[in-house]
Amino acid sequence: MACRLEIEPTGNIVEVQEGQTLLDAALRQGIYLPHACNHGLCGTCKVEVLEGEVDLGNASYFALMESEREDGYCLACTATAVNDVVIEADIDVDVDARNIPVKDVWGTVVKREMLTPRILGLWIELDEDLDFQAGQYINYHIPVFSEPRAFSLANQPSTGRIIELNIGIIPDGEATPWIHQNVKVGDKRKITGPFGRFFVKKSANKPMIFFAGGSGLSSPKSMILDELENGCTLPITLFHGARNQEELYYANLFWDLEKKYSNFKYVPVLSNNEDPSWKGEVGFTNDVAKRMYDGQFAGNKAYLCGPPMMTEACIKVLMQGRLFEKDIHTEKFFSKA
Ligand code: FES
Repeated sequence: MACRLEIEPTGNIVEVQEGQTLLDAALRQGIYLPHACNHGLCGTCKVEVLEGEVDLGNASYFALMESEREDGYCLACTATAVNDVVIEADIDVDVDARNIPVKDVWGTVVKREMLTPRILGLWIELDEDLDFQAGQYINYHIPVFSEPRAFSLANQPSTGRIIELNIGIIPDGEATPWIHQNVKVGDKRKITGPFGRFFVKKSANKPMIFFAGGSGLSSPKSMILDELENGCTLPITLFHGARNQEELYYANLFWDLEKKYSNFKYVPVLSNNEDPSWKGEVGFTNDVAKRMYDGQFAGNKAYLCGPPMMTEACIKVLMQGRLFEKDIHTEKFFSKA
């Protein structure tokens, strides 16, 4: 039997089906609740139950401590409603969010290609449209694993039913080596999305600086293509860090965009300085950006996507350069490798 879920302080009301988590019900009805791991591990989706009863589900004791359980808190990503429930959530209103309802679609792999020795590109044709904001991610369901894996969409929304995923291999991971080895053209799988709040904050109307490392280029690629295609005239700069030229993918695409759009600048940066054929920037993206901006970042919006070490170093440089935390945006989802 379905139950009624009321979310305070916004007053939104959603219907929760039997066995459905509170988070899933809200997202599928276009109501945002904070979340990250979706599996009861990180605590991002913690909410207070003000009225009614929930089953806590598989919430870890790290993410939801005994005392919090006693105080009436639950994790929206694991909790199910026993009867009609009222919860209080810490919701940041994001005026740039379109709050697109999450849904399931099926998609068939129509192309696979190694973009670098470590990053696999998959192009998937969906059976129906999937609306999303450039920068968001989807969950890819692989029956051999109990949990789906999250990947950012590397295509911009205008590509219609063909979506692109860039999947970096994590050698000691479980799913990414499996995907690299086993996913082939013709495979049909379920995809759920869109998720996430990593998208361009258009209402800010500020120049954009993107930092990308590894397969973290997916979201910036989608966001930059979307902005340029839609007539954005604000300055956009992309710093893309890679170990060597083999790992630097989509360089030709971005060099072409630089020629076509006077407001776009592409700065590839290699961390390996032993390649005599490389004439571009060498070192780390944060250092190169600091030099190019004279250490002053105020008035921009920064979007960061890549390995934690890279994003931490970039955040430090940006904040030292007077960019407030509210103007620094990072991709925040956790997915098993
Ligand atoms: Fe629910 Fe991480 S614990 S999103």
